[in-house]
Amino acid sequence: MKLIRSILLASCVTTAFAETDMHRLIWNDDPATTMTVAWRQLSDEAVVYYDVVDYGREAMSYGNIQSTTRKNSHLGISTHFAHLTKLKPDTAYYFLIADGDSVSRRYYFKTASDKYADFTFIAGGDTKSRNKNGGNPAKKTAYDYGRMSNRMVAKLRPLFVLFVGDFTSNSDKAERWVDWFNDWNEDTCSTDGRMYPLIPVHGNHENPNGLEDLKSLFGTPESVYYTIDLCGDFMRVFVLNSELSSGQMSKKIENMGEKWDAQKAWLEETLEGSKLFQYRVAMYHRPMRPHTKRKNPSKRAYEDWAPLFEKYHLNLSFDGDAHMHKITYPLVPAIDGEDGFRRDDKRGTMYIGEGSWGASPRPADALRDWTMSHGSFNQFKFIHVQKKKFYIHTVITDNEAEVGSLHEGEEFGFPKGIKLFDTPGMGTAIRYPFKK
Ligand SMILES: [Fe+2]
Repeated sequence: MKLIRSILLASCVTTAFAETDMHRLIWNDDPATTMTVAWRQLSDEAVVYYDVVDYGREAMSYGNIQSTTRKNSHLGISTHFAHLTKLKPDTAYYFLIADGDSVSRRYYFKTASDKYADFTFIAGGDTKSRNKNGGNPAKKTAYDYGRMSNRMVAKLRPLFVLFVGDFTSNSDKAERWVDWFNDWNEDTCSTDGRMYPLIPVHGNHENPNGLEDLKSLFGTPESVYYTIDLCGDFMRVFVLNSELSSGQMSKKIENMGEKWDAQKAWLEETLEGSKLFQYRVAMYHRPMRPHTKRKNPSKRAYEDWAPLFEKYHLNLSFDGDAHMHKITYPLVPAIDGEDGFRRDDKRGTMYIGEGSWGASPRPADALRDWTMSHGSFNQFKFIHVQKKKFYIHTVITDNEAEVGSLHEGEEFGFPKGIKLFDTPGMGTAIRYPFKK
């Protein structure tokens, strides 16, 4: 470490070329006291310098150093993770990723509170990779729309982002992931260097590599299903894997039926142990009931998860895959309800989706009597959690260039020019617990 410090002392102030890239933050542990910083290591061995004081790019001034805690090579991408621990809750940390040849820009992040405090988050998913624009560079593609949504993250300054899967068009091509992470790094970082932790989900486009994309590139647990707890016992996020179903995952994974059953048992056991949380929230890729006719229902999730969501009162469910916007009324499974659900404002789960972060929107043409809000456009959800109520906003992201930016301390506002979807009879903010 002394050697690295000496080298940096000579080089850090002036050297800016990247020996690391694809810088990102991931939450896979306690959001109040930990943060996982990840990057691609192109040469040498970087460390993370961090502190509650902003020392700019003067690496030597930072009071804490964390070297790589885990690394791997997947698709030829050398990913390093530095797991920061013993952080102070509800605190800004400034950091650099630096090695003998390079010093990153000065970033910062905020830890979550360890008790109830207002916060905001973004939920969405489904991006597509760079393509040839059909030979017309002026024509915007799904890839471009994804980057617009990325840039909206930087403008809205959420505490964190739930990404519900399908990151690239071809997950077995390394260059697709390099693009995705470098775009994420560049686009979602605010102008003052603030970065936002991701909580990622496995989508069907990640299936060609089995579970490896999520494990190796995001450092998720082996099973790729897990929980993240926010603000003490305020909210537990259940990260589920809709792809652990026979026939839906690559043949590389054996015993898929067993894995699905193990996840179901884990879900029930963990929900049973989560009764003290004020809110329980799930995220997964495939909707049980897609709102486009072009996608099939997720039969096993409906049969195995919906009854558990009802039994243990899961409050909110975020999904993707189908590429449009939907919010349902709070629902419980019901044989006599339309398509297997009926509205129950008191005990039901509000289903929110369906993944058009960048992917081309499909028609929202499979509506039920319990569909509250729907539309076909590029979007994600921007959720304000204030005074123990959720206000769910659908941000239409195709005018990103005309939208202003929130600054620190303005996180509960809206930037000038933002387009929020106006649900007839409901307005632009859908409240949960639901009242109408
Ligand atoms: Fe998908």
